[in-house]
Amino acid sequence: MRHKIFFRSSLYPAGEQERRVREMFSQIAQRYVLMNHLMTAGQDIRWRRAAVRRAQIQPGATVLDLGTGTGDLVREVLRQVPSAWAIGADFTLTMMHAGQRFSPFLCTAADALHLPFAERTFDAVLSGFLMRNVSDLLRALEEQFRVLKPGGRIVILDTTRPPHNLLSPFIWLHMHLVIPLLGTLVTGSGSAYRYLSESTENFLNAEELAQKMEQIGFRKVGFQRLTFGVAAIHWGTK
Ligand SMILES: C[S@@+](CC[C@H](N)C(=O)[O-])C[C@H]1O[C@@H](n2cnc3c(N)ncnc32)[C@H](O)[C@@H]1O
Repeated sequence: MRHKIFFRSSLYPAGEQERRVREMFSQIAQRYVLMNHLMTAGQDIRWRRAAVRRAQIQPGATVLDLGTGTGDLVREVLRQVPSAWAIGADFTLTMMHAGQRFSPFLCTAADALHLPFAERTFDAVLSGFLMRNVSDLLRALEEQFRVLKPGGRIVILDTTRPPHNLLSPFIWLHMHLVIPLLGTLVTGSGSAYRYLSESTENFLNAEELAQKMEQIGFRKVGFQRLTFGVAAIHWGTK
């Protein structure tokens, strides 16, 4: 069952920001995974492994990977817990389609702000590099809360503003010069990778995101900074 591929045909009508995000990810979909590995020097693999461990997924659990893109988190869930029932959901079909060439994964079209799942469906909801892109963060958190079973875990992996330290100028250079240049060379879209640094800077810092999760009702919220604080994993329980 978990290797079956299906797409739901209907997507909730999207606004201007959603349309721009979908267009951008459609443009870079074919080189997205390669570019991730290059710009993080392979750290993204380690980050996803750590994020899945934080979800504490039990054998046979139902798991949603929201904003699944090319499915890297779903694959990591199934690598760590082969008996889990895991599905990826995304509103950019090109990304999920591009990911099928690595290995087929179960996925569905869905908007994070209007999830097509019943209340209390999942034991865990994970997302990788999604939350910075959504136009209404609280709504996205509410939707994840709604589809989680009581006691279920939310895990959010995303880039974040690192605290200021001696490495700050180098991190700035990497984000604003190296990544957009590499993005232009590898994917042909420098703008998508300028958007990465801009959206990271405009996003909440790690403490603020934890507060928003508590505001929605998640308990036992915590976070861990990764690789000089350029990314973070947040977790919480319904
Ligand atoms: C940076 S990619 C992350 C892909 C994957 N999770 C990973 O770990 O590499 C962000 C993904 O979130 C999706 N996305 C952004 N906003 C979304 C929304 N409102 N609903 C569903 N998917 C969304 C994009 O289409 C894109 O595939």
